[in-house]
Amino acid sequence: MSCLAKVKDGIPFFDPWINEADKAAVCGAFESRWLTGGPKAVEFEKLFAESVGSKYAVCVNSCTAALHLAMRSLGIGPGDEVIVPVLTFAATANAPIFCGARPVFADIDEKTYNIAPQSIVDKISKKTKAIIVVHYGGQPCDMKEIMNIAEDYDLPVVEDSAHTVGATYLGRNAGTMGVIGCFSFYPTKIITTLEGGMFVTNDEAIGKIAKNLREHGMSKNAADRERGAAWYYDVMDLGYNYRLTEVQAAIGISQLKRLDDINRMRVNAANKYTELLREVDGIITPFEAKDRTHAYHLYVIRVLEKEFGISRDKLFVELSNKKIGLSVHYTPLHLLTYYRNLLHYNVGDFPVAEKIYPEILSLPIFPTITEAQIAEVVNQIKVAKKISQG
Ligand SMILES: Cc1ncc(COP(=O)(O)O)c(C=O)c1O
Repeated sequence: MSCLAKVKDGIPFFDPWINEADKAAVCGAFESRWLTGGPKAVEFEKLFAESVGSKYAVCVNSCTAALHLAMRSLGIGPGDEVIVPVLTFAATANAPIFCGARPVFADIDEKTYNIAPQSIVDKISKKTKAIIVVHYGGQPCDMKEIMNIAEDYDLPVVEDSAHTVGATYLGRNAGTMGVIGCFSFYPTKIITTLEGGMFVTNDEAIGKIAKNLREHGMSKNAADRERGAAWYYDVMDLGYNYRLTEVQAAIGISQLKRLDDINRMRVNAANKYTELLREVDGIITPFEAKDRTHAYHLYVIRVLEKEFGISRDKLFVELSNKKIGLSVHYTPLHLLTYYRNLLHYNVGDFPVAEKIYPEILSLPIFPTITEAQIAEVVNQIKVAKKISQG
């Protein structure tokens, strides 16, 4: 996995924080002899639901699976439209497509890079059946405006919370304000189960549908049968195998125990970057809205070519040559081949996303990044600027 590859003698884009407790949890899960769909998964769901403040949680093997279950549990199907931000990862838009529905892209806010509420309103049609928002980089969206729009048009909101566990908006956790929240535990995410995800909801009926579809749509699962239920089961609906293994759930429980530390360490790293980058002309540091906290899954700067001296692409090459791991989140989806062919958008359809896309650059950030590493990244940004000035 390129984003995790250690840059030899350099600074990786991401370095996972796996400690002795995580390793012990793995061994413990193996020793329990129950390897999947068992008590650890149930415990992880309970602890996660408590942690974010949601009534029900269903653990799954990716956030992509959680998003798919979100669409299925809302009954999204052929002919329906689902509004999604244009600046996101493919999985957000793929969830409606899996169900035969059309993702309708909305533009983003120029400061936070989150979905722009006005753009949601502009895209609502008679076919719109849901809105998926993404808390880009770990900063919650404008949920008050979005929930007002959703109420006005009677539309469910799904929060793609892949980038945050624990960031808040007006005191409420991201992922718990809409009807469904979907979280990712991929290695670069806030907590990891290697691969994994969580589906949360306060709606019991929706939680039941998701749980049922996670396990093939069966009326009873292996745990029920182990607890003495009759062998007979029915298949109620077209389901999937989206289970999380016991080993992964055990890692998740262990990681969740240090969620506050993880979030604090990421915020400290982000604050250090912002402090050191403040005086660099042509670099825009992340905007922080006052009414919310930021999980800093990503630390995204904007490189303004005129003021900085070189473009984002040139800076990417300069820093990569110094063995600094970087990324770009994201190419707006309407510019990617699959969505271009499927949805027929044009260049120019999403002016804000298209304006900022050539300027955004994700710098290395992870809980254990050191101040010295951050200072070195900033130093190399300044060196690249100086070279550009001749
Ligand atoms: C915004 C967003 N949504 C969904 C996903 C999919 O997550 P997963 O890899 O857990 O399926 C990602 C993964 O990077 C993401 O960034």
